[in-house]
Amino acid sequence: MSTSDYAPPQERERWGSRLGLILAMAGNAVGLGNFLRFPNQAVQNGQGSFMLAYFICLFLVGIPLMWMEWGIGRRGGSYGYSTCPGMFQSLTRAKWVKYLGALGVVMPLLIVVYYVYIESWTLGYAASAVTGELAEATGNTSAFFNTYLGADGNGFLGNDTWIGSNKALTFFLITMVVNLWVLSRGLSKGIEIVAKVGMPVLLLCAIALVARVLTLDNYEGRSALDGLAIYWNPEWRALFDESRAIELYGKGSAAIWLAAAGQIFFTLSVGSGAINTYSSYLTREDDIALTGLATVSTNEFCEVVLGGTLAIPAAFLFFGLDGVMEASSGNMGLAFKTMPRIFENMPLGFGGEAGGASGVAVYGLLWFGLLFVAGITSSLALSQPTMAFLEGAMGMTRRKAALVVGTIILICVGPVIVLPGVLDEIDYWAGTFGLVLFSTIEVILFMWVFRPSRAWGEIHHGADIRIPVVFKWIMTYVTPTLLLWMLYRWGTTQALPILTFQNDPNGNAYDEATRSAAYLARAEMLALFVFFAVLVGVASKRGYFKRAETLDSPEGSAT
Ligand code: PHE
Repeated sequence: MSTSDYAPPQERERWGSRLGLILAMAGNAVGLGNFLRFPNQAVQNGQGSFMLAYFICLFLVGIPLMWMEWGIGRRGGSYGYSTCPGMFQSLTRAKWVKYLGALGVVMPLLIVVYYVYIESWTLGYAASAVTGELAEATGNTSAFFNTYLGADGNGFLGNDTWIGSNKALTFFLITMVVNLWVLSRGLSKGIEIVAKVGMPVLLLCAIALVARVLTLDNYEGRSALDGLAIYWNPEWRALFDESRAIELYGKGSAAIWLAAAGQIFFTLSVGSGAINTYSSYLTREDDIALTGLATVSTNEFCEVVLGGTLAIPAAFLFFGLDGVMEASSGNMGLAFKTMPRIFENMPLGFGGEAGGASGVAVYGLLWFGLLFVAGITSSLALSQPTMAFLEGAMGMTRRKAALVVGTIILICVGPVIVLPGVLDEIDYWAGTFGLVLFSTIEVILFMWVFRPSRAWGEIHHGADIRIPVVFKWIMTYVTPTLLLWMLYRWGTTQALPILTFQNDPNGNAYDEATRSAAYLARAEMLALFVFFAVLVGVASKRGYFKRAETLDSPEGSAT
């Protein structure tokens, strides 16, 4: 490596301890996706067959990407970079890749805009559980939800085209302040402490709720365990036979595969830049092979075992299969509308009477509290890439960076709060499609441009385990092929109508209102990307990339 006099603008931060790092990474991955998104996705997109596709994607795409992102991140960090533009530039001589790296800042920032809004609902609901408001509303939890969001015509804008309520706004602002305060305290004194306190609390709440659900007495002849059959009756044929899939689940095979893959990306936090950024704060000698795997295992435990054994079995017990299907059909219905009704029915002790209002208070606090903790450890991870960029590439102090992050989120969240449809649109582009796109770029860069043997060596440097060598082959050929196939399928079957605003990403035709929401959302996303791409250019002028650009042989030959 040639020497360079470029020094990163600031003393870079580090994780305080290995345990702290593990919990922070677990907190990054374990989020609303595990408890809220997973059950809906599995039930609506092929159930048992979804689970088969899910585990296949976990091994062929999820775990490989996790290792790659840890590798890219730690390598970037060893040259002083905690930003994807810098990390990418340390992998190749091609100067334009840093602009692709800007996606690794913009995408998590876009996700956090709506993520933190939903996170704030969980806080608002936890508060309503405690004050007893939620218990009063169990007769009509849909109306309660609409009132909370201001979608009942009585919001601060006074109609139901443009929505938004003071209550939702208040809890949003509280949530934002907490997030920004933690971020401004930095890595080891902020994020790490939240993870060290939060993750055990999250596990305890979830385990308590799961234990309660599994020990419930039968209700109208149904048991909670029977509810598990929804996930655990796989059929292979449906994964390849279109008509069989439609007959069984009302969804085609490709839809099942794509939903399963999408869930793997989202739940593991891969394909966004969030994992890379956390990993960049490791030292070169820290293990990533085993720790990366530990992150995956923790996440899968929280998702499949805890997340999967909570809402759906409980909903099945009290409301039967039809109830489950209905509850999981909207994105938020299960967590915010169905669960409060379930809590009303759950006895507080073992056996005995339904808990009624106290049940809603106690279980509601456990459930929404658990969601809030899961949410905040992920929203911190989603914000950190922008923090790192503003500090590292723009030379801002941590405080100033936190203020800028807060300002951007506040500006961008406006449309998400007041215009129904904007949230879904951003979730689709940044939280679904974007993850596949960014992963594809990463795999090509790391496995093909940087070369397989060097990538493999990078992942094993300082490793506490040796990864079975079959994974080297999977990472080099299988993962990129699958990713490119997904993009190809998207390009040939879905891209045109979506890009030309014919139908929304779910395949439904846009109406007047959702089309304007889509215009606004896409304009917002594009503007943010352009903004950060320009900043990458500015940082480049100031010499931020100099060190990466003067590496002797970033690509080199396979060693
Ligand atoms: N993995 C988080 C969840 O399951 C969401 C997330 C996505 C966080 C991408 C960081 C990056 O909720």
